[in-house]
Amino acid sequence: MTMNNIDNLLHESRRFPPSEVFAAGSAETRRLYEEAAADREGFWAKQAKELLHWHKPFTQTLDWTNPPFAKWFGDGELNVAYNCLDRHVLAGNGDRVALHWEGEPGDQRTITYAELTAEVKKAANLLAALGIGAGDRVAIYLPVVPEALIAMLAVARLGAIHSVVFGGFSAESLRARIDDAEAKLVITADGGYRKGKVFPLKAAVDAALTLTDKASSVTNVLVVKRGGNDVEWTHGRDLWWHDEIAQVDSEHTAKPFPAENPLFILYTSGTTGKPKGILHTSGGYLTQVAFSHRQVFDLKPETDVYWCTADVGWVTGHSYTVYGPLANGTTQVLYEGTPDTPHPGRWWELIQKYGVTTLYTAPTAIRTFMKLGRQIPQEFDLSSLRVLGSVGEPINPEAWIWYRDVIGGGETPVVDTWWQTETGAIMVSALPGVTTLKPGSAQVPLPGISIDIVTDDGTPVGKDEGGLLVVTEPWPAMLRGIWGDPERFKETYWEKFGDRYFAGDGARYDKDGDIWLMGRVDDVMNVSGHRLSTAEIESSLVAHPMVAEAAVVGASDETTGQAVVAFVITRASQADAAGKDDAAAVLRAHVTQQIGAIARPRQIFIVSELPKTRSGKIMRRLLRDVAEGREIGDTTTLADANVMTLISETLR
Ligand code: WTA
Repeated sequence: MTMNNIDNLLHESRRFPPSEVFAAGSAETRRLYEEAAADREGFWAKQAKELLHWHKPFTQTLDWTNPPFAKWFGDGELNVAYNCLDRHVLAGNGDRVALHWEGEPGDQRTITYAELTAEVKKAANLLAALGIGAGDRVAIYLPVVPEALIAMLAVARLGAIHSVVFGGFSAESLRARIDDAEAKLVITADGGYRKGKVFPLKAAVDAALTLTDKASSVTNVLVVKRGGNDVEWTHGRDLWWHDEIAQVDSEHTAKPFPAENPLFILYTSGTTGKPKGILHTSGGYLTQVAFSHRQVFDLKPETDVYWCTADVGWVTGHSYTVYGPLANGTTQVLYEGTPDTPHPGRWWELIQKYGVTTLYTAPTAIRTFMKLGRQIPQEFDLSSLRVLGSVGEPINPEAWIWYRDVIGGGETPVVDTWWQTETGAIMVSALPGVTTLKPGSAQVPLPGISIDIVTDDGTPVGKDEGGLLVVTEPWPAMLRGIWGDPERFKETYWEKFGDRYFAGDGARYDKDGDIWLMGRVDDVMNVSGHRLSTAEIESSLVAHPMVAEAAVVGASDETTGQAVVAFVITRASQADAAGKDDAAAVLRAHVTQQIGAIARPRQIFIVSELPKTRSGKIMRRLLRDVAEGREIGDTTTLADANVMTLISETLR
C-alpha cells in the first residue's frame, strides 16, 4: 500500500454528482442494484437471456456444488462469435460500422458488422481446414490489426481456445506460453508498426519454435502480411493468411457449444516465476462483459463511437475491445500504434476524426499526456466525448481531474473501473447516471457483484477501515481455473479465505463505504497498468552468468505508477571485466530479451549484499525505501544490521 494512496483517500473531498443528462435515464439503472440485491442469481439469469442469443436456453443458473469450480448457465448452449456477429446482421444492423481501424502510418479500414461476419466465417473455414476444432489451442501473436479480432472470433466460432500473447513479449515468453497450452497453430504477422518502425513478429515466432531441440506442439504458422518486412519461410509449416483465406468457402454456420466451453487462456503474472494461464469460458463471461460494458459506459449502440486503447494482448483488450463491445453491437475505433507517433496529438486527432464518444484508457497514459501539457489536446475538438473510463491501476485524483477537465471538457464523467484478468470483467465501478463521483475511488461493486474488505484473518472491516479486497460470491465471468494446474488455482485465490476469492489487492472503505484501491499486497508489480512478477524478473536475472543473486522491487514512479528496480550481486570474476554501468546495461538487455521490453528494469543497482531476515527472506520493503530515495525503515529483523549501510554506501 503506498502512502500516496492513503493520503489521497484522506484528503480528497471533491464530489461530482451525475449531470442532468445522465441522471434523466438513471431510474432504470438504479433498479438494477435493487433487482440484483433481491435475487442475485435471478438477476444474472435475466441479463444472460436479455443480452445474449442462446441456441439452447439454460435452465440452471449457478452450480457451486464443487467450489471453487463454478458453472454458470451450465445446461445452456451458445456460440460466442454468433453473438458478436451474425445476430447483429440478422437483426438488420449489418451496415453498422464495427471497426474504424487505423494503422500507425495512417492507413485505414472501415469494417461493418456484415463484413466482419463474412471475414470471420472465412477464417473459421480456414482454421477448420488446418485441423482446428473444439478444445484445440491457438496462439495469437499479432499487432492491433483487424485480423487479431477476426482470428480470435474465428477460434471462438469453432469452439476452440485462443491464447493471445502480447506482441511485446519475447520469443522465450511466447514459447513458454505455446508449450504450456500445447498450441497447435500460431497466428502472427510479418511485423507491426510501433513508434514509426516495423517490429518483427514472424522472426520471434521462428525463434520461439526453435529455441530448444524439443519439437513444439505447433504444426502450422499462419502469417498476416502487415509490416512488409522480409521473413524466413519454413515450407510445409508456414502459410500466408491472404493466400489461404482466398481459397476457402465464405459460408460457415456457427454451431452451438456448452456455456462452460473454454473460450480463452490468457497468461498473467503471479507471485512465482511462472506465468499463470487464466482460463475463461463462454456463457457467463460473455454475459458479464456485455452487461458491464453497457452499464459502465452508458452505452448507446446506435450512436456511440467507443474506443478502448488497450492492446488485444491484455485482458482489457479481450473483454472491452473484442467481446463486450461486439456482443453489444458497438461501433469502435481500433488503433495499431503508439500515442505519440507521428505526433503527440495522435489520440486526440483520432477522437476528433471519428467523433469518439467513449474513451477507455489507463492512468499511465493520462499522466504521460499531463506531462506533455494541455495545449496538445486543446488543439483538437474533443466535444464528442461523453464518458471517460480508467483501468489497470489506481488513478490519482490529479490525473482524474485533468482527464475530466482537459479531455472531458469539465463535464464528462470519469469512471474508474477495478477488475483483473482473473475476474474477466469489471467488478467495481461508478455508473455515470447514478453515482456521485469521487476522484481516485473505484467506489461501488456493480449490480450482482459481492465485494468486501477483510482483515488478514478474514474479519470484515468497517467504514473508514482498510484491509484486503475479496469477492464473496461467485460471479459469471470469474476464471474457471489455471490451465493445467487446479491446485495452484485453489492455493492462489481460495486457500486464504475459504469460500471467498482473494484478489491480492489492498483496499479501504471511506466514511461513506466507497471502495478505494490501495495497490497489490503481494509481489506483483504494476508498471504502466501491466502486471509483472518480481519473481519472474529475478529468475531471468539469475539466469545470466554474471549474476549471483538478484532482488526486484516495484518502486513508485510518477508516470508509470510503479517501475522495476533491481538489486544485483554479481559474480566478481565476470562483472569486473564489464564494469558496473556496462553490467547494468547488459542485464537490462538480457531481461528484455528473455521476457520483453515491458519488464526491462528502470534501474539496476550492483550491490555486494542483499538485506535478508534470519530465515533468509529478502526484505524488499527496505530495498523499496532505497529505490524510492526514502529514509530506510526498521532494520531490526535483518540478519546482518550493517547490510543497508553497505548498500547505501555503494549507491552513493
Ligand atoms: C490493478 C487489468 C486500482 C489491481 C484489468 C489488479 C487496479 C490488477 C484497477 C489487475 C483500478 C486494475 N484501480 N487498481 N481501477 N484496475 N488494477 O490482471 O492491482 O492486468 O489486481 O487486469 O491491476 O491487473 P490485470
